[in-house]
Amino acid sequence: MPVIPPAAPADVPPADAAMPQDFDALLHQDPEVAGILLAESRRQSSTLQLIAAENFTSPAVLAALGSPLANKYAEGYPGARHHGGCEQADAAERVAVRRATTLFGAEHANVQPHSGSSAVLAAYAALLRPGDTVLAMGLAYGGHLTHGAPGNFSGRWFEFAGYGVDPDSGLIDYAQVRALARARRPKAIVCGSISYPRHPDYETFREIADEVGAYLIADTAHPMGLIAGGAAPSPVPYADVVCATTHKVLRGPRGGMILCGSELAERIDRAVFPFTQGGAQMHTVAAKAVAFGEAAAPAFAVYAHQVVAHARVLAAGLEAEGFEVATDSTDTHLVVVDPAPLGVDGRTARDRLMAAGMVLDTCALPYGDARGLRLGTAALTTQGMDEADVARVAVLFGAAVRERGDAGRLRSEVRELAERNPPYPG
Ligand SMILES: Cc1ncc(COP(=O)(O)O)c(C=O)c1O
Repeated sequence: MPVIPPAAPADVPPADAAMPQDFDALLHQDPEVAGILLAESRRQSSTLQLIAAENFTSPAVLAALGSPLANKYAEGYPGARHHGGCEQADAAERVAVRRATTLFGAEHANVQPHSGSSAVLAAYAALLRPGDTVLAMGLAYGGHLTHGAPGNFSGRWFEFAGYGVDPDSGLIDYAQVRALARARRPKAIVCGSISYPRHPDYETFREIADEVGAYLIADTAHPMGLIAGGAAPSPVPYADVVCATTHKVLRGPRGGMILCGSELAERIDRAVFPFTQGGAQMHTVAAKAVAFGEAAAPAFAVYAHQVVAHARVLAAGLEAEGFEVATDSTDTHLVVVDPAPLGVDGRTARDRLMAAGMVLDTCALPYGDARGLRLGTAALTTQGMDEADVARVAVLFGAAVRERGDAGRLRSEVRELAERNPPYPG
């Protein structure tokens, strides 16, 4: 029997280019959810997305996410599935694996982890036993929840020791990492962070890991897109296992991946399925393949280098506005600032920025308990902003935190800047 769609309410605006082609069908069938999706699309295009972990995926990635592979169950790996009808699922996963290994120069890739956290969980499952000691960046310095947070599986199942950064320079204190490694004899050392704006020295981490007989796990969730575009050094030649997200600068679907050498391939694969996950999300795997294909194109290298150039422009602009910039600038897409010199704490600053239409996070600072602000330039760069636009963002940012000028005018200027650079033109 044909389903008669309810009429769309008059106040639901027409679908725009961020929406999949069959969005009109959703609009007619379920105006309530369609309205939420449209409002989110409007929010993303009328405010500035400064959350360092976010980006705008391409329409091609969105199309793969909304494809019939979303219907497919595919437990196992290509050629060895528990379910029938996996020919195209196998093909999609083989393409994703081939593109990932080529892009990152790795012997083996597992593209099934549902998220960055799932990738780290599988890496620990492959290499460690409950109760083992792990050395990772302390949470107060930018370590991720999966690096030993008490409320996370990592903090409950493993003994974590945390290394930090030098309080003056904000740079990783490798002497401390070495001393802690010698004292604690960890089974694994994790390098990677949610807010470190410089490149980890993978060679030194490898040296320290070798000295104490530890595995080296690089958690490159943040810089993976910069690595793909040649704008950041790769941990692949140094780390036993590399865990990452496929979103963030890499600009793929929300998800995770693991790279390793062939000697650990089977352990990693078994740690992902069946140990920590069931059926892979094949539409996401196909979207990862699309994103890896995009990241291999020369235009992506230009993009990755622009993201870093923009972050440096942002850091310089914010310093000129009076913020204290962690490590004085950045080598990545990330800028971390302390608003204290402006007489404002991190949470108040974030609330003022949000009111002005600038969306971002607070984060730990390398000293004391105060919260700083973490910004990223991946999304601004994807939507086509140039250095002048980014320099203007820094001025607007300063005005919002200081509550300088008319709040309505400030919000309008932020909206105008965002809408002049639509993430999904047309
Ligand atoms: C260093 C690091 N590891 C792991 C993750 C976890 O990724 P997800 O949120 O996809 O689980 C993140 C997310 O920001 C991260 O920054």
